[in-house]
Amino acid sequence: MANPVNIALVGMGWWGQKMLAVLQAAPEDIRVVRAVEPNIDTVRALCDAKGIALSTDYADALNDPAVEAVVLATPHSMHTAQIAAAVAAGKHVFCEKPLALTKAEAERSVALCREAGLILGMGHERRFEPPVADMLAMADTGALGRIHQIEANFSHDKFLSLARDNWRLKADQAPAGGMTATGIHLLDLSVRLLGAADSVLCICEQLSSDLPQGDTVAAFVKFKGGGTSYVSASLANPFMSRFTVYGSKGWIDIRDKAHVEAPDGWIVTSAMQGGPIITREIGKAEPVKDNLVAFARAVRGGDAYPVTGEHLVNNIALLEAVFRSATSGRIETVA
Ligand SMILES: NC(=O)c1ccc[n+]([C@@H]2O[C@H](COP(=O)([O-])OP(=O)(O)OC[C@H]3O[C@@H](n4cnc5c(N)ncnc54)[C@H](O)[C@@H]3O)[C@@H](O)[C@H]2O)c1
Repeated sequence: MANPVNIALVGMGWWGQKMLAVLQAAPEDIRVVRAVEPNIDTVRALCDAKGIALSTDYADALNDPAVEAVVLATPHSMHTAQIAAAVAAGKHVFCEKPLALTKAEAERSVALCREAGLILGMGHERRFEPPVADMLAMADTGALGRIHQIEANFSHDKFLSLARDNWRLKADQAPAGGMTATGIHLLDLSVRLLGAADSVLCICEQLSSDLPQGDTVAAFVKFKGGGTSYVSASLANPFMSRFTVYGSKGWIDIRDKAHVEAPDGWIVTSAMQGGPIITREIGKAEPVKDNLVAFARAVRGGDAYPVTGEHLVNNIALLEAVFRSATSGRIETVA
């Protein structure tokens, strides 16, 4: 019998509304019972039409005994305090990326959830894109051999039209160009494949826009266990999303045909040792929904949620070093 997890969506901007839309297709796993949005008029009609209680105050969701989990789609700098408040109220948490802007904050959030026995989900839906999930499974079984290198880019120009006082364009809230918006997904996949990072050189420049945090970022990462990853992102060129992994027994290049906001399938090119280069088209999927469903099933005691606390801390430790390197211009050690 279906036993959906009752959630409150917190932050009903671009991504909160995207999550609400995809969750219509997951009624057996998740029921949205509340929403929280300070700019309440922007989503009043939407929530009324769906029968979702709406208020401006996060405390209303935390004090609602019907809410089992909060889904945070709020500005990055709020995540750590909002997770602590959710844990104090006994709610499971799904947090949008990045989890935090410092390793210490990430460690605190991971420890709080673990000690309270609460699931911490993370908006790294790229892991749920079918070709990425296949690639990770192949890496885990050793089919790709020793992973040597990663090259990845995730760019879009959607933010160029935002008002210049938008939080996503502020250097203190979204430092290092597109690293917190898009590059963070690539750092996540990099630490998932190669483990904890050792050091990073990041170059962030403002090349063709007036975006204060820069529009073009590139990070070159060395991993403690060997291997390297080159992650780049632009906030000022047309959409591109590719992830390429090279191993001793084969390589795979995954290109998204459209932004995950409206997925349109993937183009995957690969070659295994001794074999030809093969290109395949993969049909549409909805990884944002599938990630939330995996979280809900973990809350109900199903399969363990795949983004572990170790992955989360390793990712934010690397992100923090990326920020330091973008400022110093030097290779920075990852704490
Ligand atoms: N996983 C992905 O692919 C993906 C894509 C886009 C955004 N995101 C993430 O989603 C989060 C939100 O980004 P966005 O693009 O939707 O931003 P946004 O500005 O469109 O939405 C954020 C919303 O949070 C609201 N808010 C502010 N303070 C709040 C508070 N105290 N309580 C509740 N709501 C509050 C704002 O009014 C706004 O409506 C960020 O962490 C971002 O990185 C993830």
